[in-house]
Amino acid sequence: MSLKNHTVLSGVQPSGDLHIGNYLGAIKNFINMQDDFNCYFCVVDLHAITVKQDPESLRRNTLEVVATYLASGIDPKLSVIFNQSSVSMHAELSWILNCVTRMGWLNRMTQFKDKAGKDRENVSSGLFIYPNLMAADILLYKATHVPVGNDQKQHLELTRDIAQRFNRDYNCENFFPSPEPIIDNDISRIMSLKNGLQKMSKSDPSEYSRISLTDDNDTIIKKIKKAKTADVPMPDNLNDVLVLSEINNLLNIYSGFSSMKKEQLIDQYKGENFSNFKSELSDLLVSKIEPIAIEVKKLMNDKSFLFDVLSDGKKRATEIATKTLNDVYDIVGLLRYDS
Ligand code: TYM
Repeated sequence: MSLKNHTVLSGVQPSGDLHIGNYLGAIKNFINMQDDFNCYFCVVDLHAITVKQDPESLRRNTLEVVATYLASGIDPKLSVIFNQSSVSMHAELSWILNCVTRMGWLNRMTQFKDKAGKDRENVSSGLFIYPNLMAADILLYKATHVPVGNDQKQHLELTRDIAQRFNRDYNCENFFPSPEPIIDNDISRIMSLKNGLQKMSKSDPSEYSRISLTDDNDTIIKKIKKAKTADVPMPDNLNDVLVLSEINNLLNIYSGFSSMKKEQLIDQYKGENFSNFKSELSDLLVSKIEPIAIEVKKLMNDKSFLFDVLSDGKKRATEIATKTLNDVYDIVGLLRYDS
């Protein structure tokens, strides 16, 4: 079945080195979907500035996300790759959605609570309305499918609520579709290598908590060697694995990068301590990450190619975004005229 009339949109923040959580939770699915769907993959630089960014690093990180998309296998001919701030309709639609979203809905967002923590009075107001900008990203392209990690599920549910509320308030049934999250269960929440109860994150102060897609081979091996395991050997069944969060996480990573199911891996390593398992996991990660890291480095030395990809993406994204925003302005009653 051709799904070329279905649209995928997803985004990644240029707020630091991408890690294997970003890859397994999101980017891997981008690649799987690009043959069958109309795909838009955005570098969400406006989201990144909801917390302070150094301008020079932001510029570099934006290009590095583009390089990582390409190095991971996203084909710029099939998929539209662009940075969010270059298509001004994202910011414009997000303002309109700010006026649709209820405060109570935003107050329930757990990611805001986690990120703001005790410093709630001091964080930017952008961080609070961040999910409205994410809804704008998705609805501008009338995306039907959104591949994301588990941490974005609540934002996707909010996007659906916003779409439905807009359609109802403005009497335009089915104008915005309700996008479906595409979330792969086991690999949608990759955990820290140091604490199996904490999400792997770009902002974790410990480098040993994550494996970056630009880590060199020795670093990958060292990080896996140091990864927390358990005081017992590998169990012989999935139920016993599930209570050992660090082991479960390493198995999810192994399975996510190979074609092997967790049950097969458990069968292979049951009863053993973790040294053999870790060494084979490192080999696997090196074989998958090294080609990406090499390609990212190469692409970062060819900035003019990266800018060509971005400007082509910007052109293609702007075409659709302009049409949707014009329709929204008409629906809402905002005047449009030629000067
Ligand atoms: P960001 O930049 O934090 O993460 C990018 C993608 O990686 C996923 N992810 C993970 N998946 C599994 N395990 C992890 N430990 C892990 N950490 C991150 C995220 O779920 C995400 O899919 N708000 C989004 C970016 C965004 C977006 C959008 C996504 C902006 N607009 C529109 C989809 C559609 C974010 O901060 O992702």
